[in-house]
Order: sequence, then structure tokens, then C-alpha cells
Amino acid sequence: MEAYTGFAEVYDFLMKDVDYIGWVDYIEEIFGMEGVKPQSILELACGTGNITNKLAKRGYDVVGVDISSDMLTFAKNKAHDTGVFVKYLNQDMRELDYNKKVDTVLCLCDGFNYILEKDDLLSIFKKIYSLLKEKGLFVFDISSYYKLSEILGNNVYAESFEDISYIWENYFDEETSICQLDLTIFKRKDKLFERYKEIHYQRAYKIEEIFHILKNAGFNNICGYKAFTFEEFEFDHERVNFVCKK
Ligand SMILES: C[S@@+](CC[C@H](N)C(=O)[O-])C[C@H]1O[C@@H](n2cnc3c(N)ncnc32)[C@H](O)[C@@H]1O
Repeated sequence: MEAYTGFAEVYDFLMKDVDYIGWVDYIEEIFGMEGVKPQSILELACGTGNITNKLAKRGYDVVGVDISSDMLTFAKNKAHDTGVFVKYLNQDMRELDYNKKVDTVLCLCDGFNYILEKDDLLSIFKKIYSLLKEKGLFVFDISSYYKLSEILGNNVYAESFEDISYIWENYFDEETSICQLDLTIFKRKDKLFERYKEIHYQRAYKIEEIFHILKNAGFNNICGYKAFTFEEFEFDHERVNFVCKK
């Protein structure tokens, strides 16, 4: 199965311990620290809208983009259930067809790790630069090289719950810096379990590579923090959060 098709159904369950409210608080802290009060936000790789819908609830005017229509179905349903309006676009961010200028662009929780070619990342960053208004903010994170190569890479993770179980086998290729994530999911259907598989590929980027690509795209004012803090990022941190000002 394609990435984020069957997985969409279990994504929110498997992410249930992620503090998304704290994540949105952190984004707002960044706005405060940068002295900006954005109104319009474009969120790339928004998935099931966990951040998108919360931002909309807090009054921002948000557009969410994701390549997976299955993930977006959950995002739209949750927006409807919570009474917020978000415009969701089913698009591959490598071919983003969106031209309205915005105050802020976000891409959170690994979105850019799914971009396997540096050239694609460069053209995405260039497009983002062109979409941002003057002094606009671009905030994103990636799983670090250390996390993909040493924590996830060549390790197996598994968990078993009442209605869902998964096995997650990972293989890291040092030559390409790509981590192959083989997910086998078992989901209860009455008395039996349905089993399905998805393969995801994530690229591990070193922080210097990201800085280099950002600069080539036009960004000069860039900071890299240990995610959820304002501490300088170090090699063995698992998630790095970038804040770039146009
Ligand atoms: C780990 S999920 C993160 C979802 C969401 N940002 C969150 O915080 O829960 C990664 C998302 O990236 C999306 N994605 C991967 N490649 C993409 C691409 N080329 N264009 C747009 N979305 C993409 C996937 O469909 C998936 O929803």
C-alpha cells in the first residue's frame, strides 16, 4: 500500500501521546519571540490536521496541504466536528499549486524527511520563499540524522493494543541517507485482525545540509533549535526545529 493510505486510519491512535496542544503553544511562542502576529498560515504535510485545526481554533486563517487524501479525510472530519474552517488541499508539495501570499508557512513532524531528493527540497524552499510576505516566517522541523540513522535505523519497534498492533522495521542506508520504514499494521475487524503493510521512506538530512539549501533558496535569517525549546540544536537531539525569516 502507498504511504499514509491504510496508516491514515490508525495514525491518530498511534500519535495519541503526542502533545499537539503543546506543539501549537510552541509555534505561538516562536511567533512571540520573532515579534510577529501572523494571520494567514499555510501548513504543508498537515496530515490529519492535528496542528492545522488547532491553529484554526485559535483564530488563524489556515490552509492545509497533504499528499494523502486519506489523511485529509480525517483532517476534514475533525475540522467539521470541532466547528472550524480550514481549506484543505490534496497536493504533493513538490508541485505545489498555491499562489496566495501568506504570513507564515509551517511543515511539522517530519514532512520534509519525506522529500528524498535535495533538488526537490530546494525547489520547495524556493516556492515557500516566494509565497511568504516580507518578514514572513517559515517554521519547520525534521527528524535528525542521528534519530533516523541510530535510533530508528536498523531497529524494530512493536506495540500491541486491544484493537491495533504494529510492527515497525527500519533499515538505514548510509550511502543514500534514506531510512526505509516497513510498517505492518494489524487492525481488529470483528473477531479477526486485518493485516496490511506500508513502506515509508524518509531521508536523514544533516543540519548543515538544510542550512545550505535554505540559503540557496534565499533565506538568510535562520535558526536551528532543539525542538520544543530555544536551545541550540546538537547532533544527538532527535528533532530539530528551524525558524527562518524572509
Ligand atoms: C508524520 S506525518 C505528519 C502529519 C502532521 N504534520 C502531524 O503533525 O501530525 C507526515 C505527513 O507528510 C505527508 N507527506 C509526505 N510527503 C508529502 C508530499 N510530497 N507532499 C505533501 N505531503 C506529504 C504525509 O502524507 C503525512 O501526512
